[in-house]
Amino acid sequence: MENELIGVSENIRRIRELIDRVASTGLNTVVYGETGVGKELAVQSLYQKSDRAGKPFVKVNCAALPDTLLESEMFGYEQGAFTGAERRRRGKFEQAHGGVLFLDEIGDMSLPLQSKLLHVLQGGDFTPLGSEKAVKTSAWVIAATNHDLEKDLVAGKFREDLYYRLSAIKIYIEPLRNRPDDIPHLIHYYIEQYKAQFAGKALRIPLANVIQRLCAYRWPGNVRELQNVLKRIMILGDGEEGLNGLLAPAPPPAAAPNPVGREQTLVSGDALDPHEFNDLSALSLKKVRKRAMDKVEKEVIGYVLGKTGWNRSKATKILKISYKTLLYKIKDLGIEPPPDVM
Ligand SMILES: Nc1ncnc2c1ncn2[C@@H]1O[C@H](COP(=O)(O)OP(=O)(O)OP(=O)(O)O)[C@@H](O)[C@H]1O
Ligand SMILES: [Mg+2]
Repeated sequence: MENELIGVSENIRRIRELIDRVASTGLNTVVYGETGVGKELAVQSLYQKSDRAGKPFVKVNCAALPDTLLESEMFGYEQGAFTGAERRRRGKFEQAHGGVLFLDEIGDMSLPLQSKLLHVLQGGDFTPLGSEKAVKTSAWVIAATNHDLEKDLVAGKFREDLYYRLSAIKIYIEPLRNRPDDIPHLIHYYIEQYKAQFAGKALRIPLANVIQRLCAYRWPGNVRELQNVLKRIMILGDGEEGLNGLLAPAPPPAAAPNPVGREQTLVSGDALDPHEFNDLSALSLKKVRKRAMDKVEKEVIGYVLGKTGWNRSKATKILKISYKTLLYKIKDLGIEPPPDVM
């Protein structure tokens, strides 16, 4: 069936069963997992198996828009609500009435907007910008995120009451490297699909070798990365060497095992050690300050980029700097991406 999660691992089997059981309950659900593990596919599967299939399926990417735009996108506005609002616009909540509202990247939603969302989930209605009249919605809200929301709760980045409202059902999709049994099944499925899609294209490497090599890989980009690798070796007809080039080398062993220790070094300002400056003129406080700031900034920015998988937009949000500033700092401070990031 279309939109079915493929796999034989315990994790995927359980998720398929859970989806079958909850699809028609309309219980608010959050799907968790790393990038590319199949969160959106799971949401579509829920929708398709529910009695809302055929009703609207409306997706909002909570990470893609600045706050005010996201708000008007979700709740809509009346004509004249703000400069440029030339005609009334129905928000996604209204469009999803009777169907599914998929809030993707919910972990990136700001706290003020989280409050507004909570209000809608509690009351079942909302008021578009510039309107006096509340609009009812019966949308089934399903969310997805690659954040650990429970950690975000503790850090004060996600509202606890909203978390409980949203996550009557929790679905966690394991990274592909933790369920290697699924890899051969995905390979077979996608090779067949690409053969049909790119007529005349075939593998130049024996299938058994492809499977062996791909099962041993750690898949930082999960199923999406697997699809890309298969497409490449089929369309370009790469040999074994080409295949090896597509697979990113393993990262160096994790730095500090203790995250608290790591946090402490980040704020301790160890860049202030005067012994590092080999001539006294370098000890002008201005220079010391600049050097210390550069060192701390380099470490913090590198750390945040590492944590976000070098997703620069996400990093700018965490660091609260503009995209342009981030690019400048990466260059100026000489922050090197890992080899698998372009
Ligand atoms: N178990 C699976 N079986 C078949 N296809 C899968 C499976 N998991 C993922 N895919 C496919 O992999 C691709 C990436 O999946 P999807 O977009 O659902 O990931 P995601 O978790 O939403 O990623 P992101 O966090 O980057 O948005 C899609 O084309 C999806 O159909
Ligand atoms: Mg997604």
